[in-house]
Order: sequence, then C-alpha cells, then structure tokens
Amino acid sequence: MRTIDLVAAARPNFMKIAPLFKALSRESWANVRIIHTGQHYDKAMSDVFFQEFALPKPWLNLGIGSGTHGQQTGRVLEAYEAHLLADRPDLVIVAGDVNATPAAALAAAKLHIPVAHLEAGLRSFDRSMPEELNRCLTDCLCDILWTPSEDADQNLLAEGVAHERIHRVGNIMIDTLEALMPAIQSSPILTQLALDECSFVLVTLHRPSNVDDKERLSSLCELLCACARELPLVFPLHPRTRARLQDFGLMAGLSQSHILLTEPQPYTAFMRLVSSSRAVITDSGGVQEETSYLGIPCLTLRENTERPVTLTLGTNTLVPSDTLPDALHQALSQKNSHLCRIPLWDGHTADRIVQHLRQVFTL
Ligand code: UD1
Repeated sequence: MRTIDLVAAARPNFMKIAPLFKALSRESWANVRIIHTGQHYDKAMSDVFFQEFALPKPWLNLGIGSGTHGQQTGRVLEAYEAHLLADRPDLVIVAGDVNATPAAALAAAKLHIPVAHLEAGLRSFDRSMPEELNRCLTDCLCDILWTPSEDADQNLLAEGVAHERIHRVGNIMIDTLEALMPAIQSSPILTQLALDECSFVLVTLHRPSNVDDKERLSSLCELLCACARELPLVFPLHPRTRARLQDFGLMAGLSQSHILLTEPQPYTAFMRLVSSSRAVITDSGGVQEETSYLGIPCLTLRENTERPVTLTLGTNTLVPSDTLPDALHQALSQKNSHLCRIPLWDGHTADRIVQHLRQVFTL
C-alpha cells in the first residue's frame, strides 16, 4: 500500500481533488487521505462541495481558518508538519495556488517526502498576485509537476526545471465538469431564481485587487450597473466581496432590480448558471477555464491571466474595467457557438495521473 495525502484548503481546490480522490480510491495499492486545511470553512464555501462531489469527510481538518497570508501559510506549515511527523505518507499532492499549496509542499519537502503539484506551471507573471507567488514557490518545491497545458510546460522549462519533473496530464477541473454534467443540467437553480435560459449575465468577483480597494470596487459597481442596463446580472457574492461591499456602503447601489445578488452557489447550481448565461464577467481563474470549455463568452476583469490558453483557444477576453460595458455589448452581439478544442481537457486527467503514479511507484 502507498499512503497519499491529498491536500485541499479552499473552494477552488475541491473540484480539483475530487476526481483524483475517486480515481485513486479505485486502486488497490492506494490509501488516499484528504487533508482539509480549513481555510474555507463555511457550509457554502466547503461542506456543500464535499456533498456534491460525494467526497468523504476529510481524514484530517487542520482548522486554520481565516487570517492574513502569513498567518494562513504559517499555521498550515506548523499543523501539517506535526501531522507528517506523526503519520508519514509516501506522497503528498497539493493543488492549485492557494496559501496552503506552498505551505503544505514546504512541510513535506523539508521532511523529504515526495510532493506533487496538481495544476503546475501556470504563470500570470504578475507578482502582486498572492497566487502567483504561491504558484512559483510550490513548483520550486515539488518533485512532480502535473501541468494542464503546453504553456505551463514552457514556463517551467524557461525557469530551468528539469524536463523529467514535468508531466502534462491535462485540466482536472474538466473531469469534474464532465462527471457532474447530468446533475448540472438537472439543477433547479434557474427556477429557484426565476430566471430564463440565456436571459442574464453571470458575475463573480473576489480578487483582492478588485474588491479590497474602495475606489476600485465602487467604480466596478458603477460599471456593473451600466452593464445591467444591457441585460440583467446575476451576482453570487463571495464572503470577501459581500464584506467589502458592506464596509464601503456599496450594497444599496447594487441592490437594484436588474442585479440579482445571491449567496455563494454550490457547484452544480453555479455551473448551471454559467452554462445558461449569455456571458460571464469574472476575475476567477477557474471560471475562465469552465466558460472556455462550455463555449460561453468570458470577460475577465484582470490585466493578465495565468491561463493564456483560454485566450487563444477558449472564449476568454481580458477586459480593462472602463471598457466593460462596451466589451459586454460586443460579446452579446456575437453568436454563442464555440467548440472547446483545448488538448487534454477531456475528462480523463485523473486517469492519466493514476497511470503516472503507477510508474512512479513502479507498480
Ligand atoms: C482564496 C484564495 C484564492 C481563491 C479563493 C476562492 C489564497 C491566497 N486565496 O481567497 O486564490 O481564488 O480562495 O474563494 O489562498 N470567509 C468566509 N467563509 C469561509 C472562508 C472565508 O466568510 O469559509 C471570509 C473571511 O472573512 C475571510 C475572507 O472570506 O477573511 C477571505 O477568505 P480567504 O480564504 O482568506 O481568501 P479568499 O478571498 O477566499
């Protein structure tokens, strides 16, 4: 038996670990343990995803909670190291680019436990993003780098990473999207929110660079109100965004008839909203990929993306915020017919990883 820790911390991790947990659980040689760091802890930000993905309760929850970057990173390092010292696995797998990702990788690497990074090699080349620093640090620490696309391989090679550490396996989020498609299609969310198919634009915003500064958020709110005059908006609020809107007194301005503010949505409801929308306005990384796969126009309110393949082969456009209403107008006047042709975004990434691990463990 090989014991494998699968570390997850926050909402965008859960859809990445779910297919791998399932694929590894089917292997007779693998003993997989989900380690939840507890960065996201609300029912709507965590528990609901475990239920929808039929994941078991985490084997261990480190309970680190909210805090500054240093606090979150430091708490994971300390708590996860204690677990590793007490109960050493054969491999640690970390995912994505949240604060736990480099912290757990460092704890394991210092104890000479092999570490693999799921979604390695992505770079925005914008070091003001906490996630960019997390990505660079994690890739530096990991023995195995599982990349989703060719640009990620190139980034790693350009940083001098040895070819042997890089393994292109594809985009694991698409495994989850494919596996849950029937549940997504039968989600009752449109009826619950009294929405018609293709009658709205979906909005998600939570990046510190967009929501933590009063002037920036206030100007984005004005631009969203302008967009809502074109087509109604549906805007599930991340807890960070809700808190900032309240702190800055911007809630009332947004709560108008053409903008529907909701709680964070579970995965299937959210993906039903994405797939039924005319366009999506976002600053999320994962949503750029999901819209590309589903052929929904995506307007990304960022200056750069670590997922350039969504610009070249997908439906994503980077939009300077002041041009948002025009960009939306243009996106809505185009026909929505886009077939995703991104190599290895095919629902079989977890199988490729299991295949690779059999070689690693010489099974
Ligand atoms: C984190 C990730 C980000 C990811 C995002 C998805 C880092 C550096 N950032 O950002 O990459 O895109 O998750 O959501 O790791 N809160 C709750 N309930 C929760 C969790 C958080 O109310 O279950 C509130 C707290 O007030 C907290 C704030 O949301 O301070 C921000 O949460 P945090 O986990 O620090 O960062 P995110 O913005 O979610």
